[in-house]
Amino acid sequence: MRGKEFMAMHVGKVLIDEEAIRRRVAELGEQLSKDYEDKEVVLICILKGAVMFFSDLARAMTIHLKMDFMGISSYGDAEKTSGIVKIAKDIDTSITGKHVIIAEDIMDSGLTLLHLKRILMERKPASLRICCLLDKPERRECDIRPDYCGFTIPNEFVVGYGLDFRGEYRNLPYVGVMKPEAYENCD
Ligand code: IMP
Ligand code: MG
Repeated sequence: MRGKEFMAMHVGKVLIDEEAIRRRVAELGEQLSKDYEDKEVVLICILKGAVMFFSDLARAMTIHLKMDFMGISSYGDAEKTSGIVKIAKDIDTSITGKHVIIAEDIMDSGLTLLHLKRILMERKPASLRICCLLDKPERRECDIRPDYCGFTIPNEFVVGYGLDFRGEYRNLPYVGVMKPEAYENCD
């Protein structure tokens, strides 16, 4: 069984439902459109987790912009990253002198985004800000904060709306909390 029931069996509770996501993403889009009016913007999607957030956010933004995609792999497992980031797919757009917004699914330890920010800053953008759907500040291991954040969440492992556990659950339309027994029984 790999259908709807399977997913429901492993997701304990809905933390943020579809309607709440839709409303918050619309607010973020409006805010970004105000803050970046008349600026040359490159909105970067960090694959794969940010894919849902990025595509909804881009449509909620009413300003002229370029969209690009970056694939990163971090050394670590599903629940813990080392923060050492390898670029698996780079953006095609030059960001020098442009205003860059990174769309990411979640800031956890913060190590991935800290590293990514350093890599992109070397290309001398006019500005670089991070827009995260979710923030888990309790887990932070370095001095970094999202510039824009959809929701601050408690220290629980979440899936859905792009976020995965071992590549699965990304297509859930809401953000749900994984049942601990679902990852304990996984191997
Ligand atoms: P960080 O370097 O610890 O901030 O890790 C960020 C990355 O870890 C995110 O881009 C996610 O891919 C993954 N991650 C962290 N927390 C969760 C979670 O609760 N669910 C799913 N993925 C997560
Ligand atoms: Mg992930």
